[in-house]
Amino acid sequence: MVEKKNQDRKNIPWWKKTTIYQIYPRSFKDSTGNGIGDLRGIISKLDYVKDLGVETIWFSPFYSSPQADFGYDISDYQNIDPEYGTMDDFDDLVKNVHDRKMKIVLDLVLNHTSDQHNWFIESKSSRDNPKRDWYVWKDGKKPNGKAPPNNWKAVLTDCGWHYDTKTDQWYWAYFLPFQPDLNYRNPEVKMHMMDMIRFWLRKGVDGFRLDILGTVYEDPEFRNNPLSWKFFPTDDSMDVFFRSKKYTDNYPDNFEFAKELRKVIDEFQNPPRFLIGEISGTLEELRNYCGKDSPDGLNLVFIFQSMRTKLKVKKFHRLIQEFETYFPDPYIPTWVFSNHDFLRHISRFKEKNAIEKSKLYSVLQLTVRGVPTIYYGEEIGMRQHFLPFEESLDSVSLKFKKLPHLIQNFLLKISDYGLNRDGCRTPMQWNMDETAGFSPNPIDTWLPINPNYKSINVENSIEDKDSLFCCYQRFLKLRKKTPALNSGNITLMNLKTIPKKVFGYTRSAIIDGNEQMVYVYLNFGNKITTFHNPVPNSHLLSSTTISSQPLNSQNITLQPFEGIVLEK
Ligand code: GLC
Repeated sequence: MVEKKNQDRKNIPWWKKTTIYQIYPRSFKDSTGNGIGDLRGIISKLDYVKDLGVETIWFSPFYSSPQADFGYDISDYQNIDPEYGTMDDFDDLVKNVHDRKMKIVLDLVLNHTSDQHNWFIESKSSRDNPKRDWYVWKDGKKPNGKAPPNNWKAVLTDCGWHYDTKTDQWYWAYFLPFQPDLNYRNPEVKMHMMDMIRFWLRKGVDGFRLDILGTVYEDPEFRNNPLSWKFFPTDDSMDVFFRSKKYTDNYPDNFEFAKELRKVIDEFQNPPRFLIGEISGTLEELRNYCGKDSPDGLNLVFIFQSMRTKLKVKKFHRLIQEFETYFPDPYIPTWVFSNHDFLRHISRFKEKNAIEKSKLYSVLQLTVRGVPTIYYGEEIGMRQHFLPFEESLDSVSLKFKKLPHLIQNFLLKISDYGLNRDGCRTPMQWNMDETAGFSPNPIDTWLPINPNYKSINVENSIEDKDSLFCCYQRFLKLRKKTPALNSGNITLMNLKTIPKKVFGYTRSAIIDGNEQMVYVYLNFGNKITTFHNPVPNSHLLSSTTISSQPLNSQNITLQPFEGIVLEK
């Protein structure tokens, strides 16, 4: 039995053990001096990423795009936007990432194109254009067709149907009006997109993050969405203003589509490739994307339920139990706290304990069972830059620009759903130079740099051995070399056996016939806590606090918000 387990360990695919770092290309590093990040800039900073200790880099889109949604509106799927570089730069990027023994993941926006894509321009040109059916077109409601075909709403609750006067029909756009949805019920569209995926795989791409995958297929009968009891959307459902999304979100055909995509990437082995879906849904729905009865769908899905989970023992206890219920081995959950759409996680905390709490979340993310994703700048504690709506560039925020100031400010405060996503996308803070070392010229960068860059930057973080950055670095290293942490089982400690504010779990793996046991204790409280050490012969592998000495033969003593990892 032990032997078999050991054998299984050798077959664990790399993507199950990996750690992901998300780069938003526009904001990472500008090499040309135009205030916009680019591929050459990224290449020049790969040693930094490698040194941090992450293993896979996911890039938000850098394909050709009018940039109305900063790359999530693609006008040519097989080209690099000149703002970011050339195809040669891309090939160089792949080589440089691989030379450093890291993996590269691209963002795939399958649901929609830009309205500037040639396909849509053709599709819109006449009802009998061969590309007409590549998008979702419908007649309006009778008697004169001037009302939308049904009650479907787009993501921001406006009508998702847009009227085209020339051809007197409506096209469907789940996200913003300039992002028309492709029609995957047309086999040509599907074939074309699958070939596009193969194009990038042949170039050496190791995986894809799949943008709003749950909205690719909608109800073929275009039935009205029914009423719902929900007013605000949540992580597990986008129902909003008492309207359900039954026929537009997570329509069952999307689960099948996930399997078809999996087949395409599985054509490429050595190394195997992987897919990670961006989907809002219940854990049951998310699991269905990975394959209901066997893991033959997406390899991974983001589980956004982790983002807003408060630092409360019971809440994380429940969350992990749920993750383990829906994603037991051979499935695997994912852990994410920040990305380019939401409030930077650290800005949810009061400034007083922000760094300590961030360290604690980072240790949790790197030691629980699952694949973690770190958003650029999260590792140095970059804060949300609360930029006013009037100056925003994010197309999602356009809607709020006309509101009175008072309401705008209120919305900025209460919303962590990213109503102005500029705030989490400001340039990476490298050092104390003008432009925070982001751009070689002292110019206005595409988004303003957070004025706190003089204290919060990479250079300072690397020098200070007790920084958040060094904490990430230590735990990433530890995770990489410790099988129990990167691919072991998890068992939650009984809440009654440890102090109320302490969260604990063990991770275990069999290596060469021996069991490796690792104990994780996280102090979620702001007070020093001492309790009986149940594994007296254990030793400390790492702590969030470098000066801390939490162990003696009898007891464990945790500093406020300290997290430790022990091994027996
Ligand atoms: C996803 C992306 C977001 C983008 C949207 C439309 O949610 O994360 O940034 O605006 O899809 O493509």
